Amino acid sequence: MTEFDYNKISITAKLVAFFRKFSDIPFAKEVAEYVHAADAVAEIAKQLDESGARFTDSNSELTDDAKVYGPILETRYKSLVQLIHNSGTTQVLELASGFSLRGLAMSQNSADLVYVDTDLPGIREEKGKLVEVLSAQHSSGSTANYHIAIANALDLSQLKNAAEVFRKDRKLVIVNEGLLMYLSVDERSQLAKNVREILSMFSNGAWITPDFSTREVFENVPERIKNFRRAISGTTDRALYENAFENEEALEAFIRDHGFAAEHHYQVDLVPQITSLKRLGLHAQVVERLRPRLRIWDMKPSTCFQ
Ligand SMILES: C[S@@+](CC[C@H](N)C(=O)[O-])C[C@H]1O[C@@H](n2cnc3c(N)ncnc32)[C@H](O)[C@@H]1O
Repeated sequence: MTEFDYNKISITAKLVAFFRKFSDIPFAKEVAEYVHAADAVAEIAKQLDESGARFTDSNSELTDDAKVYGPILETRYKSLVQLIHNSGTTQVLELASGFSLRGLAMSQNSADLVYVDTDLPGIREEKGKLVEVLSAQHSSGSTANYHIAIANALDLSQLKNAAEVFRKDRKLVIVNEGLLMYLSVDERSQLAKNVREILSMFSNGAWITPDFSTREVFENVPERIKNFRRAISGTTDRALYENAFENEEALEAFIRDHGFAAEHHYQVDLVPQITSLKRLGLHAQVVERLRPRLRIWDMKPSTCFQ
């Protein structure tokens, strides 16, 4: 693997936190405030070129171009929650979880669910403090089954350490969102191998992610959205979607070759309510239009794979 400093990608966790504050996702507003998410947006905005794309206007209001990320990131988060529920699992390992507190919210709501959140050291430290603050403010619900660990998703031994807390005779579901688009083709492959290896240690399992993209989906966006992406690339030193699949067949082959059998869903079908639409003054058609682009894959280890 390259010697790339993956911490450079961590600022994007704040960008996501910023857009989630327009949703009803548990803790989203507090998180955005605590991590000063607006500052991260301003930092990334410095990289925007002169082509006219802006996250906010002169009144610090979100521009129409940027608003769409509210429902996109809310839908992505909620569709993942729904598939975790549908899986019936009592054990979840989340990779690159950033400042998302799905694990805290879900484990507080279900006494049986053990949830391990992982990310890089800088995020782990900041998130640990955030969870302490939030736990003191919201004394309802136990945090005993919620764990935050350090793990580079490309490092198998770190992932194995993070998974130590789980029972091997039970199912494990591994999830990630918003990570793959920052990885190279080799890193994407390494991640899939790591996930497959960890799942092989458990009686049953699944890998759920919305992160796959094809060239057609990735390239077919307005220039201003490309400008947002260039700004994120400039800040993180990562070419976004370098690993987008040539086509649907290449995506299917990747899943198969890494030992999985997949089912995909349209995220909007899994999410009955997208709160940020109304809060941002957007029409429901915005999400309907995005429907084919917003997918999520539920992958089970295939039995014939050695
Ligand atoms: C766009 S954020 C997504 C965060 C979170 N999943 C969410 O949706 O709110 C990308 C995250 O990937 C993490 N990350 C980047 N490279 C990583 C790696 N090699 N291993 C683990 N986490 C990584 C960053 O620290 C950051 O938190």
